[in-house]
Amino acid sequence: MKKIEDLKDLNKKKILLRLDLNVPLKDSKITDTTRIDKILPTLKYLIEKNSQIIIISHIGRPKGKIDSKLSMLPVCEYLSFKLNKKVELINKKIFDIDSISFLENEVNKIFFLENIRFYEQEERNDEEFAKKLSSFGEIFVNDAFSCSHRKHASVDKITKFLPSYCGIQMNAEVNALKKVTSDIQKPIACIIGGSKISTKISVIKNLLPKFEKIIIVGAMANNVIKYKGFNVGNSIIENNCNNIIEEIFSLAKKNTCEIIFPKDVAVGKKLDDKAKIKDLSDIQDDDIILDIGPKTISLINSILENSKSVLWNGPAGYFENTNFAIGSEEIGKKIVSLGNKIYSVAGGGDTIAVINKINALKKFNFVSTAGGAFLEYLEGKEIPGIRALN
Ligand code: 3PG
Repeated sequence: MKKIEDLKDLNKKKILLRLDLNVPLKDSKITDTTRIDKILPTLKYLIEKNSQIIIISHIGRPKGKIDSKLSMLPVCEYLSFKLNKKVELINKKIFDIDSISFLENEVNKIFFLENIRFYEQEERNDEEFAKKLSSFGEIFVNDAFSCSHRKHASVDKITKFLPSYCGIQMNAEVNALKKVTSDIQKPIACIIGGSKISTKISVIKNLLPKFEKIIIVGAMANNVIKYKGFNVGNSIIENNCNNIIEEIFSLAKKNTCEIIFPKDVAVGKKLDDKAKIKDLSDIQDDDIILDIGPKTISLINSILENSKSVLWNGPAGYFENTNFAIGSEEIGKKIVSLGNKIYSVAGGGDTIAVINKINALKKFNFVSTAGGAFLEYLEGKEIPGIRALN
């Protein structure tokens, strides 16, 4: 991908910048600014180069209809505060905007087009719409990895009409993901958790041939524990998954990848219970598995100590109850304690919540805020936004 930093002269250049500022809102207030904060270096870079910036982004899924609750206005206000610069929301309909007069010599403020998903043409990847959008800028920059798995007009088709580059964050994210998928420094440990094994099966299948060890934790490990013949009591279990587990173990054998699952667990009788550590053979009918146990934590620690890279996606237990957050927190702390000895990439909303809880967000080499795009990349799928830039 051509990088924005490759451009020599950005002075007064009209940059059409696709960002993913799809932040959670409650009563028009932003409840988590992580995605905006992460993108500030790109904006500061363009401001420093004296570019004219026009931002395109979306919030939610308005399905081509105007929904004032999903306006980009709160994002404009927050950006304006963080950058100490005027950020003007453009409410005018895109087809009514006069491309020539719009933006003339405006480096003193940033323009922000209203939620691009208010237009049904966006999700249809409509050519005319993309062409009209492209007429507002001279250069297109995609710094929205987290929505690049969407073949939408402002991600994909627009690249047909403008010289197109990837932004600073997009480049960092793709480079980090390459380091845990194609350009791996081995040995690599992969820790996959979360509740449903069916949602991660494609990731596991894609990574199996490249990894020596895949560690399965979280509620999805319950299916493996049950498959191995242990009682899982009242634990969350996904039905009809034996064929998935069989496939994982047979592929692992073929690829000499070891599948590691919990050796011991922390159980409770209900979600708000205290934790009781049990070996797998001691699980009772009314027990709920809610975390990994100390033997499993030690095993994971020793694997991490012998790894040069780690990919972590999905918590090890029901971390919402601190009694069952120990497994997830210990994984996070161990990775952090290894410092430069290990290249660490983590992703997924719950994983980020755990990392935030132990104040370690900046201590990982890369933490991805992308949900669907992160998983699709790990599944080995083609990402339309990346393909378009290439
Ligand atoms: C995200 O939040 O993952 C991106 O903004 C993509 O959103 P979408 O799943 O609604 O396309």
